Formats: sequence, structure tokens, C-alpha cells
Amino acid sequence: MNPTIIEPFKIKVVEPIALLTREQREAHLRKAGFNLFALPAEAVTFDLLTDSGTSAMSAAQWAAMMIADESYAGSRSFFRFEKVIRDLTGYTHIIPTHQGRASERILFALTVKPGLTIPSNAHFDTTRANIEFDGGTCVDLVIAEGRDPQSEHPFKGNIDLGRLEAFCREHKGSIPLGMMTITNNTGGGQPVSLENLRAAAAIYRRHQIPFILDACRFAENAYFVQQREPGQRNRSVREIAQEIFRLADGCTMSGKKDGLVNMGGFLALNDSKLAEEARNLLILTEGFPTYGGCAARDLEAFAVGIEEAMDESYLEYRQATVRYLARGLEQAGMPTVKPPGGHAVYVDARAFLPHVPPEQYPGHTLSCALYREGGIRSCEIGSVMFGKRDPKGKFLPAAMELVRLALPRRVYTQSHVDRIVEIARDVAARATELRGLRMTYCPKYLPHFTAQFEPM
Ligand SMILES: Cc1ncc(COP(=O)(O)O)c(C=O)c1O
Repeated sequence: MNPTIIEPFKIKVVEPIALLTREQREAHLRKAGFNLFALPAEAVTFDLLTDSGTSAMSAAQWAAMMIADESYAGSRSFFRFEKVIRDLTGYTHIIPTHQGRASERILFALTVKPGLTIPSNAHFDTTRANIEFDGGTCVDLVIAEGRDPQSEHPFKGNIDLGRLEAFCREHKGSIPLGMMTITNNTGGGQPVSLENLRAAAAIYRRHQIPFILDACRFAENAYFVQQREPGQRNRSVREIAQEIFRLADGCTMSGKKDGLVNMGGFLALNDSKLAEEARNLLILTEGFPTYGGCAARDLEAFAVGIEEAMDESYLEYRQATVRYLARGLEQAGMPTVKPPGGHAVYVDARAFLPHVPPEQYPGHTLSCALYREGGIRSCEIGSVMFGKRDPKGKFLPAAMELVRLALPRRVYTQSHVDRIVEIARDVAARATELRGLRMTYCPKYLPHFTAQFEPM
């Protein structure tokens, strides 16, 4: 029998968890306009809204924060951070930002204009919003299996290479950069194979299109490559990650994921002219280039965290936790995206609630039910996030109606996951009684953050 994969850490600092009654949760839900982002965190028992910025930091990270050098310019902490990131990525210019979307905003402000188009396996919502804000068009070219929640393809984040090649040919001269998101958050936290990344890089290179990685979850992606890709088993996660970064010309990074920090990000580039322009913009809104949008102590914690995120016993435990939750939800009667992704389990709400039409938001309906039943906060990734209306007002649903249960890094234990599965079982037992929601307020950008709803 295989030994149990344990949490490879001891708990040194604890934080109480909210335990509420169903009536209290119902009242909170109404007050929040049925938007879980509007709930006070104190009303949440299991906060699986996101894995972003919610990691528990290690003693080594806290210790590094204490020795940070908070000098305005030329901080020792910046040079340490820069060295760690440069050793890992190989990129020439390392530009700290306060989080991933700040890197995106700066990069796209300099490269995207109306009429230009940016291909990727799948753009995440902040990436898409920032590109569209600058007038660009986002095109997702993920393989067909990546859109099929039941496909067991080991690398469902792969880009369709044939379509990418054709797209680059057809849109010659109007592609300022090409992207790949590792892992593919929008499609279920699914990894991209090294082979696919190599081939995509070659296509971009052949068409002289700069290749930028959205590298938020590079360590989880590299771990999947090691575990699943033929010929990669004997390489370290670090070695694989180093190769992946070197296939591209730069990256945007949110340290709030595989940086294991609560705040921080960076933009890394090889192109010196673009980097100079990026630093000029950085100074306008983020800060001086040796701190970006961060305190030096954030950079110290980030430098330690990004190394810890490549620790293979940590990655093994993290994957085991995600698989354990996915198995539990399946046994509870909730169909999940297969195979489970790197940072979250995605429930296929369209399959779970077939009686709720997309314009009544099956994913969001399920999210609200999980909160009402047991205080679980999850995130809809479906028609609330990506649904659109055409010029005639016709509703265009998202490709999938998913509910993401994201696992904060190093935060919850196995008994927490056991309880989450029990709550899911109770929701599943009453699935046919669940009614959809009507959106009563829709903001212009990123509707899932502030939209308001009422029950049908
Ligand atoms: C794939 C991906 N890209 C970009 C971002 C944006 O990062 P941040 O939240 O740090 O702005 C996220 C955040 O969730 C993400 O998952």
C-alpha cells in the first residue's frame, strides 16, 4: 500500500474559522446581492473563492521579510529578488509589480492597439479585460479536448497548433504578441505540455511574434509535465520550469499563485526597448523600478516563496489534495472537469443542474447553494464571468458553466476537505430543487466581481 501523502509542514500560526448557522448565511447571501465577492470573509467557513494571494507563508518567508531593505531606490531586497527570478527565468529585465494584472496593464498599454489581436491557449479574465481595454481582440485557441469537461487528455491546456499556425498566417502584421497561460485557469487549471510549448514557441518565432507566458502557475504546470509527459520523469521541476521560461521572450507573473505570497507580481522581458518603456510606465502608477508596486519585504517573501513552490514534496501534496477533493465531489454526485487541474477542482454546473438554463447562471446558482448549505465560498467561471449580449441584446453564454473550488496553498487540512465533500453531498441531494438567478446589475468590466442577482 502506498503511504499517505501528508501535508509536508507543521502548523505554527493558526486563525479561527467562522462557524455560522444556515439562517445567518442566508441573511449574508441576500445582503450581498447573491454575489459571493460581496460577502464579508468572516461569514465564510471554507474560502475556496481563489488560490490567489491566499497562501499561508512559511517561517522562512516571514523571517526574510524581517531582514528586508526598505530603501526607496536600489534596495538589497530587489537585487536578491531579481537574481532569484533571473536564475529561474533567464529573462534580462525583471520589473516588479504589485500583482499580475499590473504587469498585464503595462505590457498591453505598450503593445496593443485597436485592430490588433492576441492569440493564446486561453486568456484569463484580467488578461482579456486589459487587452480589450486597449482595443485589442483576444483569441483562445485551446485544443478541442480542453473544452470538453469529460476528456481525460493529460494536457488539456494545450494550444491547437494547426489553428495557431493558420491564425498567425491570416493575421500577419496585426499580432503584437502571442501568449500561453500556464496552467490554463479558465479551462480548469489544466496544464500545457512541454512539447506543445516548444511547438507554439517555434510557430511564434517563425512568424516573428514575441512570445509572452502568463506564468502564474508555472510550478504546478512543470510538476504536471514531470509526472505526465513521456521522458520528463527524471528531470527536476526546476529544470523543466527553466526550460519553459526560456522558450518565451518574457512573462507576466502573479506572485499570488506560485510565488506563495499575498501580494506581488512581475513583468519580465528580454526586449530592452520594451522594458525601458515598461519601466517608464511603471514609475507612473506602480513605483520606482526597484520596488514596483511592492514593499521590499514583499519582494523578500516572493523570492523565498517562488523557490518553495518548486519543492517537489509540496507539489506532490498539493496535487494529492486537489485529486482527493475531486474524487470526493464525484462520489458526492457532482460531475467535475477531468482530470482535476493544478490548483482547483471545477464542477461542471451545466451537467449538474441541467434544468437551469445558461441565462439563469447554473454555475452561480451552485456557488450560492454551496455557501448557503455549509459556508463554502467558490467562484463561478461561466456565463457570469464570460457571458455576453450581442448588439440585439441576445444572450451569448460562456463555453462552459463551471464552479471553481480553488485550494489556497498550505491553508486547509484533510478534515476540512472531508467536511467540504459532506456539504457537497447535501447540496447534490437537493439539486433538482435549485432555482436559477437573474442578474439585476451588470458592471461594464469583470462583471463577476460586482454584479448583483436575485433568485428566479
Ligand atoms: C491565469 C491568470 N492570469 C493572470 C491573473 C491575474 O493576476 P492578479 O490577480 O495577481 O492580478 C490571474 C489571477 O487569478 C490568473 O489566474
